Amino acid sequence: MRQAAFVFDAYGTLFDVHAAVRRHAGRIGPDGQLLSEIWRAKQLEYSWTRTLMGAYRDFWQLTEEALDFAFARVPGADRSLRADLLEAYWHLDCYPEVPAVLKALKAEGARLAILSNGSPAMLDAAVRSAALDQVLDEVFSVDAVRRFKTDPAVYDLVATAWRLYPEAVSFQSSNRWDVAGAARFGFRTVWINRSNHPDEYLDLRPDVILSSLDGLLAAG
Ligand code: LAC
Repeated sequence: MRQAAFVFDAYGTLFDVHAAVRRHAGRIGPDGQLLSEIWRAKQLEYSWTRTLMGAYRDFWQLTEEALDFAFARVPGADRSLRADLLEAYWHLDCYPEVPAVLKALKAEGARLAILSNGSPAMLDAAVRSAALDQVLDEVFSVDAVRRFKTDPAVYDLVATAWRLYPEAVSFQSSNRWDVAGAARFGFRTVWINRSNHPDEYLDLRPDVILSSLDGLLAAG
């Protein structure tokens, strides 16, 4: 039976976080990929440590702080690109299959939402820039609870707002740690394993593993 509610992680799942650096690859030079990977890894580390410490700062601030750290670690990258890279983050490319898959699910009558660490302003800009505002019923930001994933209060935002049992929600993320958090909460989970990563969190398995969102229509 097809789930009636589909909730998507944003960064890495709908939007390509490495698109910002790729857009300026010519100016960054050979260390672009390293810069992008450190930027993303630190952004996530800050989200976990700040939630554990109870010292919330919104995801945009963490994104800026993580980029500054990445520049410090990769001296070959031209720091004058800071503003351009941050600006690109507001208009990240979505993965190519995203618009068609969301439209098809919507046409079948499913409710669709994003649940993301992103601040409301970041998510609003990204969603509009990718023209996804027409198909999404809701965009849930962790900012409402001032804690980041994988705190259960984050996943509970959806269950509470939509008055659904967790198992009635199909949650899609390409971040395996996010799938673990969502599975622990009780969502039906789909891991979008875009980069063919090895599995982890083996006690908190996804219900389905797909290589892109395309398989969602067939997998139900
Ligand atoms: C998000 C993070 C996981 O969008 O990228 O919530």
